Amino acid sequence: MQVLNTQAFVGKTILITGGAGGIGAQTALSLAKLGANIVLSDIDDDAVQVTMGHLIETGAKALYVHTDVSDVEQVSALFTQAVEAFGRIDVVLNNAGVEYAPTPTHLTDDDLFLTNIDINLKGVWYCVKAALNIMLAQKGGQIINVASVAGLRSAPLISGYSATKHAVVGLTKSVAVEYARANIRVNAVCPSFIDTPMVQRTLAHMDERGQKSIIGASPMKRLGQPQEIANAIVWLASDESSFMNGHCLTLDGGMLA
Ligand SMILES: NC(=O)c1ccc[n+]([C@@H]2O[C@H](COP(=O)([O-])OP(=O)(O)OC[C@H]3O[C@@H](n4cnc5c(N)ncnc54)[C@H](O)[C@@H]3O)[C@@H](O)[C@H]2O)c1
Repeated sequence: MQVLNTQAFVGKTILITGGAGGIGAQTALSLAKLGANIVLSDIDDDAVQVTMGHLIETGAKALYVHTDVSDVEQVSALFTQAVEAFGRIDVVLNNAGVEYAPTPTHLTDDDLFLTNIDINLKGVWYCVKAALNIMLAQKGGQIINVASVAGLRSAPLISGYSATKHAVVGLTKSVAVEYARANIRVNAVCPSFIDTPMVQRTLAHMDERGQKSIIGASPMKRLGQPQEIANAIVWLASDESSFMNGHCLTLDGGMLA
């Protein structure tokens, strides 16, 4: 097995949406330690300060741009500022996402579903388009979308969330095939339950039995750790994954096996 060298990302620029906490922040930190320039975006300006502090401690160059990914003009401004700061964008990680409390579908508020569509799907769509325009001009790049196991199989009580993640999987595969000859690779990661603020919010809505069912959903009988997802994204973002394209990488401790 080849191990990434510690300089693998020196001079490369990675743009991460929803990078204030959870999977996005952990991935940003891992990439910063490998020498990447990081462009972090989020809507949580307070939480992002902590993450930015950790990034700067690594010696990495890091830029924060407040961006609501569901707003196409803010997305456009984010990508413009990233190119102004670093000249190019090598990798875009479309990670920003929201969930809602598990609820039977017939009782789920339409507004929650529409917010999931706005952020989890439209947000990825806007960022994919912005990334493609830049990557076509610079003749290459990589897009990594954070989907979910809920984008590959049923997810009862969060059907609206699941629908957005299935859509991200479809978008990932189609765009990957469309731009393969342009030296642009597009992949996704599909985590199961990972110990982040998102899952902590979900667990807080459940009784003890429900919480046990979430934690026990994986044959490994534990939640995944954000670092375990970050490790996979770092490999995907590196040149070591050069023949992987249009792939949706499951990271679930064996849940879908
Ligand atoms: N935690 C899990 O179990 C799990 C499993 C599968 C997939 N995912 C996906 O992983 C991604 C990261 O989730 P996480 O678990 O780290 O959750 P999180 O809630 O910790 O992080 C999500 C981040 O997105 C940001 N965000 C929310 N709305 C935004 C918007 N409109 N524009 C920009 N940023 C916005 C939040 O402020 C937050 O920093 C999401 O796409 C999520 O759906 C998470």
